[in-house]
Amino acid sequence: MAPTIPPAYDALMDVVRGRRTSRAFDADYEVPREHFDLILEAARHGPSGANAQPWHFIVVTEPGLKEQLGDYFVAEARRRGKLRMKFPTPNYSGMKTAPGLVVVVGDFRYTRAFPVLGDGSELDRMYHENAERILLQSVAAATMSAHLAASALGYAVWWVTAIGQEEAQNSFKPLLGVPDDLSVLDIMCFGPPAQPPYKRWKKDLDEIRSWDRFDMTKYQSPEDIDDWVRTTRAKVMYKDERLVD
Ligand SMILES: Cc1cc2nc3c(=O)[nH]c(=O)nc-3n(C[C@H](O)[C@H](O)[C@H](O)COP(=O)(O)O)c2cc1C
Repeated sequence: MAPTIPPAYDALMDVVRGRRTSRAFDADYEVPREHFDLILEAARHGPSGANAQPWHFIVVTEPGLKEQLGDYFVAEARRRGKLRMKFPTPNYSGMKTAPGLVVVVGDFRYTRAFPVLGDGSELDRMYHENAERILLQSVAAATMSAHLAASALGYAVWWVTAIGQEEAQNSFKPLLGVPDDLSVLDIMCFGPPAQPPYKRWKKDLDEIRSWDRFDMTKYQSPEDIDDWVRTTRAKVMYKDERLVD
């Protein structure tokens, strides 16, 4: 007999399945202050390595700041174009239209809270690399909760990264008053979408799940992945408007 599914699962999945990325918003809409709190309250409860909670969220409300952030990304997209990275780049000026914009800050000093030796040895370097992964996963977990909370409030969301480079850090930190030892990791935009967003392609459950051991029929070779990048990536990021559930 199939197990009963509690209503909480269905309610959660309505939000999880219904989350949509939009890259342009209704700029005239004003997000109530309470909504920012409701969204960040979800982030606050996120899990984190060593329960370090190595995050901080800057709610950006000033139009001038949004404008400058948007301009940076538009310029960065242009730079990538020139570098011939062949990455299908969206129109980042849509960031300026986001009624909700939250800058996600991570504190890499908390890598010290994870298993590291701290003696500068090769072994320490490996542990440190792992500690950085723990930290990034922690911040991503909290950020995902915030995105889901925004979706539950009826907003479309946009997770913007592409800001790891030193140059980006150097431009954003003074703009937002972020202390030097912290890192700007990503930007969360949300609001009523400019156009109804569509459900993007998701892999089937069967493709992403093995039991007990990695099912090698699901293994993708490097060539498979190169092929995916060449033939499919752009479609599933931007153009595939099929409704897939
Ligand atoms: C870690 C992460 C980084 C992302 N970075 C960007 C980004 O820099 N620019 C962008 O336009 N979208 C970015 N996205 C959004 C993805 O393109 C989007 O989630 C994906 O196409 C699937 O669409 P969906 O969110 O509607 O399911 C990012 C998403 C995640 C989770």
